[in-house]
Amino acid sequence: MRLLIIGGSGKTGRELIKQSLEEGHIVTAILRKPQKLNIKHPNLKLIQGDVLDPSSISSVFKHQEAVLSVLGHKKFIIPSNILSKGTSNIIEAMKQGNIKRLICVTALGINDSKYKLGLYYTLFTIPFILYFYFKDKEKQEDMITASDLDWTIVRPGHFIFGRKTESYRHGHNLGHVILTKMISRADVAHFMLKELKENKYIHQKPGITY
Ligand SMILES: NC(=O)c1ccc[n+]([C@@H]2O[C@H](COP(=O)([O-])OP(=O)(O)OC[C@H]3O[C@@H](n4cnc5c(N)ncnc54)[C@H](OP(=O)(O)O)[C@@H]3O)[C@@H](O)[C@H]2O)c1
Repeated sequence: MRLLIIGGSGKTGRELIKQSLEEGHIVTAILRKPQKLNIKHPNLKLIQGDVLDPSSISSVFKHQEAVLSVLGHKKFIIPSNILSKGTSNIIEAMKQGNIKRLICVTALGINDSKYKLGLYYTLFTIPFILYFYFKDKEKQEDMITASDLDWTIVRPGHFIFGRKTESYRHGHNLGHVILTKMISRADVAHFMLKELKENKYIHQKPGITY
């Protein structure tokens, strides 16, 4: 398929690009700094763009079949709308480009999965570090669910570096109110590409953890 990947220079994004190319997809990645990505492949096209600047991304959406977003950032402790504003621009560009399929990573702990990242996140990390980030993620999810796209929201547990195992749990009611469940970024990328083929969770928000 012709895939457009957002967040491809990030830790999950690099895995996603790598696995997409291994599976034979034709990949376009929108990156703020294309020089940051050290993957070269005949089926990979890098476009410089910022999701906060619609004019820098809108033309890239034409002729794509699906959009995969692993957008994220590290400005956790200040109020920000990077995820929601960026996603609103992505949704608008998808409409203009006539693309229906969106698979977007958020996190366990958002909206109706509240508390599912475990007690440490619920009592410490979310209120004291990720408060604004998670508020923005809630809005991001709300925008996607209100759209008329064929969306899937993927909610991973806590990320660990690790290899692709292809052996993980996915679906509803994952995570735990006490324990923090983990997942590798490589397996999140694997799950996104699996969902792209199977379309099992259209208009759903599956979690993914070990
Ligand atoms: N860490 C965890 O335990 C955990 C658990 C569950 C879910 N998640 C979520 O999973 C997602 C991916 O995580 P990650 O660790 O792979 O994130 P990451 O390494 O921080 O990568 C984020 C990506 O988003 C890009 N980006 C940020 N602002 C952008 C903009 N304005 N325009 C275009 N691209 C922009 C970054 O580009 P630059 O390289 O230019 O900055 C980077 O490619 C995040 O949403 C994260 O919150 C994380």
